[in-house]
Amino acid sequence: TATAMRGPYLLALDQGTTSTRAIIFDRAARLVGSAQRELQQFYPHDGMVEHDPEHIWADTVAVIRKAIQRAGLEAADITAIGITNQRETTLVWDRRTGEPVHKAIVWQDRRTAAFCRQLQRSGLEPLVQERTGLLIDPYFCATKLVWILDHVEGTRARAERGELAFGTVDSFLLWRFTSGRVHKTDATNASRTMLFDIERQCWDDDLLEAFNIPPSLLPEVVDCAGEFGLTQRELFGSAIAIAGVAGDQQAATFGQACFEPGMLKSTYGTGCFALLNTGDKAVRSTNRLLTTVAYRLDGRPTFAIEGSIFVAGAALQWLRDELRMIWTAAESEAIAGSLPDSGGVYMVPAFTGLGAPYWDPDARGAIFGLTRDTNGRHLVRAALDAVAYQTADLTAAFAEDLRHAGLERQRADAPLVIRVDGGMVANNRLCQSLADYCACTIERPAVTETTALGAAFLAGLATGVYETKADIAAIWQRGAQFNPELDTDLRVAHLKGWHDAVSRVRSNSA
Ligand code: G3P
Repeated sequence: TATAMRGPYLLALDQGTTSTRAIIFDRAARLVGSAQRELQQFYPHDGMVEHDPEHIWADTVAVIRKAIQRAGLEAADITAIGITNQRETTLVWDRRTGEPVHKAIVWQDRRTAAFCRQLQRSGLEPLVQERTGLLIDPYFCATKLVWILDHVEGTRARAERGELAFGTVDSFLLWRFTSGRVHKTDATNASRTMLFDIERQCWDDDLLEAFNIPPSLLPEVVDCAGEFGLTQRELFGSAIAIAGVAGDQQAATFGQACFEPGMLKSTYGTGCFALLNTGDKAVRSTNRLLTTVAYRLDGRPTFAIEGSIFVAGAALQWLRDELRMIWTAAESEAIAGSLPDSGGVYMVPAFTGLGAPYWDPDARGAIFGLTRDTNGRHLVRAALDAVAYQTADLTAAFAEDLRHAGLERQRADAPLVIRVDGGMVANNRLCQSLADYCACTIERPAVTETTALGAAFLAGLATGVYETKADIAAIWQRGAQFNPELDTDLRVAHLKGWHDAVSRVRSNSA
């Protein structure tokens, strides 16, 4: 009960792609209060996705106030704030006024696809891969930042005069929280810019030069847990310390307590992002996965390899909003479960191109295998299966990378365990399909708000609410487990059907 709960309280601010949420947890990771606001999306042109930074800021302040009020607390009761955010989304603002020079260019935005192809042709990709662990793709910040400098009048000159600041959403919020006193980002967000050397943990001069980006734009890069600054007193009644920052997928990794090499989490929201902890070694993928910073504590980075899928839950939203085949995404569980399989129907939801391991920004979505008796239920099942198939593509790539890297924990006789989270994993049918097609054990935690929880954990680690990561690992609890049940021949046949379908939508297949 609420009265049984006592501080300390940690507030997680999760600024995501489609909403902004504040969640207050107590030390035992119990939710004490929360508030949420949907974020308006702007699609100014085909392939472009933008957010209004002023909406992001106004929503942030509003949800924090509301969550504190709903928890029956005051700002002074909050030990610290942890910020977690949609990654790669790119902002540039005026250092004097704090005013953005352009809307935020969202991670999903593909406007720089042609520029990226040009960069690939120029032979820059090996350097990008070596330094940043990423591949050249419009997904990351660098080309988005260049686009702003080249398309918004006067910005390049202003940047060269040191008048502008660049940042991902975390940096922008830190700036606003502190009225421009702090221009920082954490190592996880920095690792998604395509400008950050993940081995040396600093901005990379060669890449800055290659992209012609003035270094004065860049935030200082710090650990994920530490002193980021205090919120301006006027905002919440009293100043609150900001003590944790991590990109949302990294925060989920932390919230899932994936602290040991070989531990893997996969988050199902708009897209799906799977991160596999590789410890202090930055493992280089031989399967077109990304190498990224999972978290950085006490100056020491822990690395992950990441598989990023751009469309997961968004496929169900599409069935709901554009095709009107379901009323709610939750309904998909019963509908999909009413069929033994998709009846040979395959949906490739490449609405914004294909992410890992294909990296094909020009691929487009398609549905294959329609017959006269195909109905809406088959499509719903196919959409859910597509999420599982895409995850299976990632786990196959992970398994190979691990074999290559010779990481001990993952042996052929010790199958991968995936800790899943995100809104979609309430769907038991999806969890079972994940177990079936990945041939993995799927673990769903008791608290599935792991992104927010991870941010709270980081803030708690910085402020002594938790002494060590082991304290946090002890709080993590499994809620449910799913094991493979599907016959192997069927698994192989369905995966083959999926790969045939994918090969037909690709624009860059070998
Ligand atoms: O890389 C993009 C990712 O961080 C976005 O996550 O949950 O805001 O859709 P989400």
